[in-house]
Amino acid sequence: MHGIATVKDGPETLVPSTKTRMARMLKSTRPELQSPTDLKAEATRDISAALSGLLADVFALYVKTKNFHWHMSGRHFRDYHLLLDEQSDQIFAMTDPIAERARKIGGTTIRSIGQISRQQRILDNDADYVDPQDMLAELLSDNLQLTREMRQVHNVCDEYGDVATASLLENWLDETERRSWFLYETIRGRSNA
Ligand SMILES: [Fe+2]
Repeated sequence: MHGIATVKDGPETLVPSTKTRMARMLKSTRPELQSPTDLKAEATRDISAALSGLLADVFALYVKTKNFHWHMSGRHFRDYHLLLDEQSDQIFAMTDPIAERARKIGGTTIRSIGQISRQQRILDNDADYVDPQDMLAELLSDNLQLTREMRQVHNVCDEYGDVATASLLENWLDETERRSWFLYETIRGRSNA
């Protein structure tokens, strides 16, 4: 099959065939990994890149929340340990749908821990010991950062009319704001760890 088709009865205008247009649309994704979509190539490129960055931060926040869950100490151990377990489950539940949104619109996603570490903006905390109140304050700050990032990704989706990704983000924004609310109230209610 030829890559181009000639317009009948017109000047020597060449119109790209559907196959060529499709290939052009998806040029950032190798042929074996393309998915059908009516979104423009720019949309696939920009939204999947934004989702990749978000996914790296969601993984970073997941590991940090688990880290603090595992290394919690002090008189409020049970409350904090359980709170962070609940939050880490909620954060982990976002990872697969974020990655699969990128694939559904013809993009690719995170492939490794190395890629996460190169793309993450939420920082790791490798300290030997972190005070319980400092753990909650750091997670609050990270969740607030994630909220801002999600709003930015939502803006990219709005730009291209990707309402499905935007709709998922709206639920995740609500969950992230809930996590921040719980962390904030827990810190405020207990000034001494
Ligand atoms: Fe656990």
